[in-house]
Amino acid sequence: MRLGLDLSSGPTYMQLSKRLKQRHRERQDMNHGSLAARTNVHAEFDDYAEQYTTLLADPLRDRFANNDFFHRRKFMLIREFFRRSGLNAKQSSWVDIGCGQGELLRLGMAEFGSSTGCDVSPAMLRGCEGLTVLRQEQDDVLPFADGFADFATAVCVYHHVPLSKRAALTREAARVLKPGGTFCIIEHNPMNPVTRTVVKRSPVDRDALLLGIRETRRLLEEQRFRIVWERYFLFLPELLYRRIGFAERGLARVPFGGQYAVFARL
Ligand SMILES: C[S@@+](CC[C@H](N)C(=O)[O-])C[C@H]1O[C@@H](n2cnc3c(N)ncnc32)[C@H](O)[C@@H]1O
Repeated sequence: MRLGLDLSSGPTYMQLSKRLKQRHRERQDMNHGSLAARTNVHAEFDDYAEQYTTLLADPLRDRFANNDFFHRRKFMLIREFFRRSGLNAKQSSWVDIGCGQGELLRLGMAEFGSSTGCDVSPAMLRGCEGLTVLRQEQDDVLPFADGFADFATAVCVYHHVPLSKRAALTREAARVLKPGGTFCIIEHNPMNPVTRTVVKRSPVDRDALLLGIRETRRLLEEQRFRIVWERYFLFLPELLYRRIGFAERGLARVPFGGQYAVFARL
């Protein structure tokens, strides 16, 4: 299978994948093989950080769009949410939970009053040069004071969070938001077969447990959030989106987009 990777320097994709599989097995042994029992999720992404973009490569994903496109589409949705809600981003503080290497923050920081990321993986945070980011010491404790932010995002984070910690992480998002603040969760859509295939064969998603929109709604509503806007997106590959992107608006409620976004308010 051609992966379209630059293999001219550093370990090959196969070597990396083998090494990651071995570490994964060791960690599973430590945790008795149970996702719910897994506590050292930060170590997992520390393993991926150095080769993160390479490890995301997949023939289906790469044919669909450039890496940037996935982040740009998400920020377009955030912008649209602010516009339609009459909220002023320039007067809002934003925290990006599980910011990874900061791609979304980098895209959006100029439009917000302030922006801060946090992540459990120090190695991923090393890719956040020029951004304000904080190390998160525990899976379910955010490094922010109560009522710190107007807006919080968690993008493709929850499917890496053990089931037993998801409610606590959502409670933390509610704690760090101001009254009336908004939390936006964006996730892979398990209803989309292409998404499922890409996730299944991606080394960085080895431990992923996808959550459907219903579970996301439930997590939010259990913490007193009120769902205010939902969108399925990533129906059209980048080339087509550039030509007929408007068509995605009509599909936003069709539950088969590659990902979905749920915006909820306290
Ligand atoms: C797939 S990456 C997504 C990164 C970024 N949000 C993006 O969209 O590019 C998942 C990130 O979530 C982080 N993560 C996993 N569990 C977390 C938790 N409980 N709290 C905060 N971050 C977490 C990982 O370290 C990793 O950087």
